[in-house]
Amino acid sequence: MQVSSTTQPGRSTDADTIAVGVFDGEDLPPQAPAELSELLASGEARRSFKALALAHAEGKRWLVVGLGERKDFNPERARVAAAAVRERARELATRTLCWENPPDGDREVAAALAEGTILSDYRFDRHKSAPAEDDGEEPKPEHLEGLIVSSPEDLGDAVAERALVADGVNAARDLQNRPGNDLTPTALAEYAQSLANDVPALTAEVQGREGIVQRGMGAFAAVAQGSDQEPALITLTYDGPPAQGPPTPGAGGPKLGFVGKAVTFDSGGISLKPGAKMAEMKFDMSGGAAVVEAVAAIARLELPVRIVAVVGATENLPSGRSVKPGDIVTAANGKTIEVNNTDAEGRLVLADCLCHAVAEGAERIVDLATLTGAVIVALGSTYAGLMGNDEELAERISAAGERTGEIVWRLPMHPEYDELIKGTYGDLDNAPEARKAGTIVGAAFLSNFVGEVPWAHLDIAGSAWDLGRAYAAKGASGYGVRLLVELAKSYCA
Ligand code: BES
Ligand code: MN
Ligand code: ZN
Repeated sequence: MQVSSTTQPGRSTDADTIAVGVFDGEDLPPQAPAELSELLASGEARRSFKALALAHAEGKRWLVVGLGERKDFNPERARVAAAAVRERARELATRTLCWENPPDGDREVAAALAEGTILSDYRFDRHKSAPAEDDGEEPKPEHLEGLIVSSPEDLGDAVAERALVADGVNAARDLQNRPGNDLTPTALAEYAQSLANDVPALTAEVQGREGIVQRGMGAFAAVAQGSDQEPALITLTYDGPPAQGPPTPGAGGPKLGFVGKAVTFDSGGISLKPGAKMAEMKFDMSGGAAVVEAVAAIARLELPVRIVAVVGATENLPSGRSVKPGDIVTAANGKTIEVNNTDAEGRLVLADCLCHAVAEGAERIVDLATLTGAVIVALGSTYAGLMGNDEELAERISAAGERTGEIVWRLPMHPEYDELIKGTYGDLDNAPEARKAGTIVGAAFLSNFVGEVPWAHLDIAGSAWDLGRAYAAKGASGYGVRLLVELAKSYCA
């Protein structure tokens, strides 16, 4: 989809469909043709949020969109309204859509309209056969060809920037949706390498099984040992805008470490999961997908920050070589772990990836992982769970969440939770018998692998798929890409 913004009114663009919003108790903007006012007067069009009505005027289609109360309107509502329009435009076989930015709508609203349109335009249908053309009619276009955001004020780069990030979200969704037999750890590593080839300021390094073992990453290696697929430790580095050359004066903030869990299929291993919904465990690489696409988007935007992104990719399968309940393994920082449940594999992979991020010089660390079913019980799909050891970082992430709509809810840390994960025979137990505070216990475990570095953990098991928002309802949501980009921006003065 070609995305652009213009100060021209929608009627003078080459869009075939124009969306015009109207708030409760207000009139249509002056650029709307008289036919639209008639629709409102007759009651066919309404001002309540997401109400839609269609008119034909001036050789174009016009969609009147109810925006509800002005005081309730915000970027999240703009994304939802954009999704409603995108769905109707699909029925209308729209090729190029123009959104009139609502009167006094700021850059944030304009950018959110673009974002909502791009996200709701997403489909994962590469494995579907083409439908038979039985009735001789041309099939409706699956995707918009163009999107134009029109506003009397110059929107600058806001729309283009947000479109770039939204494309990154959709790319993360593609990675998430790809089945385990296609997106193997090696395929994810190759994808990361292809991004590094495309984006000049981004570099990739990949270690396989041997490198993982050699680096003393006994926890990560233990998860990977049950699978024939080669695991991959993927490290993506971005050192700031290329033009300024290192050391980049603009990139003087702390070096950020993004860490992602990428279990490309989680069967549970020897502690095998029940069959129901096991297929969903192809999404267990969602944290890694978000990290990869976020750092790529940040590098494309040439933000003045430094990032080291670490993604641990492996399958978790039962076999004669698998790690077994009771096995004791040693992580890269020397801590020993009793693997009492092989289905608590994410924290084993992340333990070594966190150590690696610390070793690579990360000064603030954020990890994203589909770590626990418990976070779905606690927060559903609405919030991701946020835990960590640093107030300032947690506040920053919460604020970035509010700005992007990828909202997070803080869960507590407490020394009593550390008691729960003490091992009987080793230092740590990866899965205490008592199923108390499952999400927090996961974070308490991870806290052992970051040393003194300010760190935050996002449990995205509830938000990574079937998010239920109008612009990402079913399947992969790409959750975390927008949040991480926004977090990086918060470090750019
Ligand atoms: N990938 C799962 C978490 C998960 C479960 C995500 C359901 C989405 C939906 C993770 O590896 C896991 O299996 N966690 C266990 C931990 C337990 C054994 C301590 C869980 O949540 O049951
Ligand atoms: Mn598991
Ligand atoms: Zn898992």
